[in-house]
Amino acid sequence: MRANWLQSLQDIDRHYPRPAICDVLSRPENADLLEYVVRDPFGCHVFPGDIDDFPLPHFFRAMQESLARAPYLHLWAYIPTCRYKCHFCQFPTVIVNPQSPRAPALFRDVVDRNIQEARMWLAQLPALSEVPVGEFNLFGGTPSLLPPEELQRLMQFYRDNFTFRDATLRFEGEPGTLTRPFLAQLRELGFSKLSFGAQSFSDRLIKGCGRLHQAETCYQVIRDARELGFALISVDLMYGLPAQTVDDVRDDLQQARALDLSHLVFTKLHMKPFAETRTGVSAAGENAWQRRDATLPSLGQQYQMRALAEQWLDGDYLEHPTMYFHHRSAAPEKWKAMITDLDQQVPEVAIGLGGSSKCAGAELINLTDYAAYQRALDNGQQPVDSVRGMSPAQQAINGCKMALSSLQPLDDAVFRQKFGVSLFSQPVIARALAELQQHGLLHRRDQTVRLTPAGRVLVEAIINTRFDASLNL
Ligand SMILES: C[S@@+](CC[C@H](N)C(=O)[O-])C[C@H]1O[C@@H](n2cnc3c(N)ncnc32)[C@H](O)[C@@H]1O
Ligand code: SF4
Repeated sequence: MRANWLQSLQDIDRHYPRPAICDVLSRPENADLLEYVVRDPFGCHVFPGDIDDFPLPHFFRAMQESLARAPYLHLWAYIPTCRYKCHFCQFPTVIVNPQSPRAPALFRDVVDRNIQEARMWLAQLPALSEVPVGEFNLFGGTPSLLPPEELQRLMQFYRDNFTFRDATLRFEGEPGTLTRPFLAQLRELGFSKLSFGAQSFSDRLIKGCGRLHQAETCYQVIRDARELGFALISVDLMYGLPAQTVDDVRDDLQQARALDLSHLVFTKLHMKPFAETRTGVSAAGENAWQRRDATLPSLGQQYQMRALAEQWLDGDYLEHPTMYFHHRSAAPEKWKAMITDLDQQVPEVAIGLGGSSKCAGAELINLTDYAAYQRALDNGQQPVDSVRGMSPAQQAINGCKMALSSLQPLDDAVFRQKFGVSLFSQPVIARALAELQQHGLLHRRDQTVRLTPAGRVLVEAIINTRFDASLNL
């Protein structure tokens, strides 16, 4: 097996330089990192607890304690409806033809359920209505499918029941549904940030993903959003897609730079869920490409694609956290910084199908099947799939992992103040950091650690392989 993986690392496009990371991954000491990137789980968004079957009331108690200390929270609502299913997507979705006779009732139901679940959260945690929301995210799925009256009703509920005084409002849509009238309604409702998936600016690749829009649709959305006064526009691009070449990625990055976007999310295609049911990102079963066993670019080419992003964006854009690039003139993506930066790491509450909520002491993931989600709500139950608690040691470990994923330097004084233990004395963390330093993946100067360029490229693998308490103690 390992021989095949090493061969895949060697397989590069000769017109581009061989990425230095191929040598790093070939070293025996990094065999676990290589295995991780071959297995390819989506592991940079969820930081699991270490106490299984944590009782729900304990979760609410932990959340209440976090909220009592939190300056603000990240609140998100997830709308699962989509008009088609992309071949790469493992997000929990409900597919609907918006023109079909059943569509209006379904959209009403989705909004009703979201509000119903939010009311359950508020009943359990009255503080939720008082802690200022730092950023409110309307995520999808495709919330841009919602009819105007349903969107209005949903937003009115959130504004009436949460503290939006200082909140930034961000909306995630799908380009084919982000019409100018819809964008105008978003502005009226107070949204200032817009995000959508392009995946690529090549019509061939967009079609290959099973998506029903074109590159031109994306350009039009950007023009309209600018004219309507959106302050920030973020576009998702993916690399490592079937039939995608290194040239294709260069063209996409060139195009992205020409568009002068405030933010760009540049994600490698992940084909395996983080764990079968342990993520709000990818829990709803295999995607179409997994079922078909699609052929992907080699590992060597994937890292050439990643290297191009650094080369093309360097100078104009900064990466913070991993995969999220912001223009020099814009702040880092606020919601990501709020949950990963060491000096923040505020609680987040996610309402909707597959939502993933987290505070210092526990994390919770919602059901990902819409019928089961509906049944739970009909029975007056919180629609939870699983809850895990975090021991004090795991809280410190997760705090360190999240901070590493932010790609910002870690200051031990800040860490100690937050977790009551030093990075260099907590046994799992100290051992992992020392090993990473020895292997050239991390620098330490006095009380501050920062990832090296190789460490930054491999951060997802690093945080998911090197901080396992059961392996290190
Ligand atoms: C849930 S989508 C929401 C955006 C919107 N529904 C759209 O498609 O335009 C968020 C982003 O996650 C990324 N994504 C989804 N599945 C992925 C996968 N398997 N691997 C890597 N990125 C993925 C895509 O870039 C997508 O735009
Ligand atoms: S990528 Fe976006 S549009 Fe495509 S199925 Fe997933 S959530 Fe829906």
